[in-house]
Amino acid sequence: MVFQDLIIKKRDGRELDLGEIEYLVQGISDHSIPDYQVSAWAMAVFFQGMNRREIRDLSLAMARSGDMIDLSSIPGIKVDKHSTGGVGDKTTLVVVPLVAAAGIPVAKMSGRGLGHTGGTIDKFEAIPGFQVEKAGPAFIDQVKRIKAAVIAQSGNLVPADKRLYALRDVTGTVESIPLIASSIMSKKIASGAQAILLDVKVGQGAFMKDLDRARELARTMVEIGQGVGREVAAVISDMSQPLGCTVGNTLEVKEAIDTLRGHGPGDLEELCVYLAARMLRLGRRFEELAEAERWVREALKNGQGLTKLMEMVEAQGGEIDLGDENYGLPRAQIQHLCLASRSGFICELNAMQVGLTAMHLGAGRECLDDRIDHRVGVELCKKVGQPVKEGETLAIIHAQNRELIPEAIAHLQQAFHFSEEEPQAPALILDCIE
Ligand code: URA
Repeated sequence: MVFQDLIIKKRDGRELDLGEIEYLVQGISDHSIPDYQVSAWAMAVFFQGMNRREIRDLSLAMARSGDMIDLSSIPGIKVDKHSTGGVGDKTTLVVVPLVAAAGIPVAKMSGRGLGHTGGTIDKFEAIPGFQVEKAGPAFIDQVKRIKAAVIAQSGNLVPADKRLYALRDVTGTVESIPLIASSIMSKKIASGAQAILLDVKVGQGAFMKDLDRARELARTMVEIGQGVGREVAAVISDMSQPLGCTVGNTLEVKEAIDTLRGHGPGDLEELCVYLAARMLRLGRRFEELAEAERWVREALKNGQGLTKLMEMVEAQGGEIDLGDENYGLPRAQIQHLCLASRSGFICELNAMQVGLTAMHLGAGRECLDDRIDHRVGVELCKKVGQPVKEGETLAIIHAQNRELIPEAIAHLQQAFHFSEEEPQAPALILDCIE
């Protein structure tokens, strides 16, 4: 096979067969196909797309390019969760303990944040002592014992995606539905769970800027999963404004604990209850969604979710002090108020701008090798739909370096938009595709 012929075939809008896709994935994994040819092929896919069969074959071939995690020794239906990435998305810290507390095992591998979006592993690492590296047997043993573990993706999980994603990142080919869907689903398939809940984010702070594209991505991923014998549901949720009131790793851990104690922000609680209930249905713990939601709400009230988080934290070497007002988490040295320059209602709170502000303060990375500071970030005091008076606090900047504050304020001033009239807060849960 000559790879150039496969680029031409895709460039001309023709279909690649299974053998050609396997040859491509092999060549990406063993570097026998050079960067410029992989990139040219990705650009051809960007413009010509792939059909459902090609996307499924690509996902499965990529999944098999590295370790395939075997969770079969863990009793019960293993349910995984994945978010396509957002700002302030700390749902995993809340949802995984809730689902595990109901007896459904969650053996989750997560990634680190890149760009304006945060990563679950960075958030867990903000808990002092928390270990995100665990060898396979210890990971499986923890899930058998306490039903939940969240660790960093193993170095050899879907190596083909690692190389392809790095090339897409620098060649303008990230925003392609077949490539995003196969990238995400290959990792989920390799991670071994039988059932997967996807949270597809839509809005300015997400990859998918409009609902139609988010639905198409969700449908594509659900079909890939079903095509390889996994049960998949995809929730579509709003990411036009950040989720909850905090962006930045330690701040988000604190907010997740508050939520498990029953006093988190309304939007975060609403989404977590819905996602956890959907996972409990995928795990066959409840037939009806309403029944599952009732159980989850009760678990927030009676502390079962919080107890499970504490078990997870202890099992992974971390320390949280529930008696301390900041739960024993380190605080940034500087808290600087960002004040409203006018009165009105908040009609838009740009998630991308808030994410970039947190990144600028050191909470996120531009490149995967960048070091981050878990303590810094942004606490939002106003969200869309709320009234504000001139001089009131819009947000609190948590920083370690005073020199970064003027630019952080400038970013935040661009994030908040005002109107005279009271606007409608955006709907949070927009659809669910099963
Ligand atoms: N997340 C992934 O893992 N892959 C993509 O292509 C986009 C988001």
